[in-house]
Amino acid sequence: MSDKSQIPWIVFADRAEVRAAPVQDSDSVRTVSHGGMVFGTQLEIHPSTNEEWLKLDPEWYGGGGMYVSRSTVHRVHPSNQVEGDLPIGSEKVDRWWGLPLDYEPSDLVYIPVKYALRGREDYQLRREVAEALAVMLDAAREDGIDIRVTSAYRSGPRQRTIYLRNISRNGPGQRASAPPGHSEHQLGTTVDLTDPEGRHSFSQAFDKTPQGKWLEKNANRFGFRRSYYPDNVEETGYISEPWHWRYHGKPEDSEKE
Ligand code: DAL
Ligand code: ZN
Repeated sequence: MSDKSQIPWIVFADRAEVRAAPVQDSDSVRTVSHGGMVFGTQLEIHPSTNEEWLKLDPEWYGGGGMYVSRSTVHRVHPSNQVEGDLPIGSEKVDRWWGLPLDYEPSDLVYIPVKYALRGREDYQLRREVAEALAVMLDAAREDGIDIRVTSAYRSGPRQRTIYLRNISRNGPGQRASAPPGHSEHQLGTTVDLTDPEGRHSFSQAFDKTPQGKWLEKNANRFGFRRSYYPDNVEETGYISEPWHWRYHGKPEDSEKE
């Protein structure tokens, strides 16, 4: 399937309104229910609300100027339509392309509580990632830096709950939370990191802490890369996140490709 316009956006919200203009109070032309599909390749951003609107393909809707809020739909990249586990490092997950909402790696393991903020026992990662994380966090501890996990694997439905809560609190123009299917956390390769007291959890100031500085200097050696920087906000569609680190494979593995 090389023509991207043929790949549907799927309504993950309870419903999506098809509107005549890219703004919430414009007329609803029709409603697409949960699980329904729409087609389009262009996004427009509302200048004051920051909300993204998918411009629907006129071929499908018989005329131009039909829009659906991007905060109601997700889309699966063809390479993510697999039976088994995705190969670590080359997964295509970003603001445009996502995973099936029921994608869950089969090799998730619980991370040792000594790495978790407040001793939580329910953080999961793919086995290879959990091992690489332990090596990295042990190396940090040898340097006198205690780094803790405050979020790890999140399922598609869990991300949906988080995203919809964020939208209802901060509006559909928010850029802190990924729509379901589009979060790197669903890969089981991504962690949010913090200090041992959680004082700088999800804080822009985390990169000024000893933990944040250690990660900026060392994490790449262990196969982890920070996804969201101030200078890629336009490209990624998300705010800068000094706490969010994704495992792409050990540096020597990635060189082989
Ligand atoms: N906070 C990042 C973008 C996520 O929700 O995956
Ligand atoms: Zn994160």
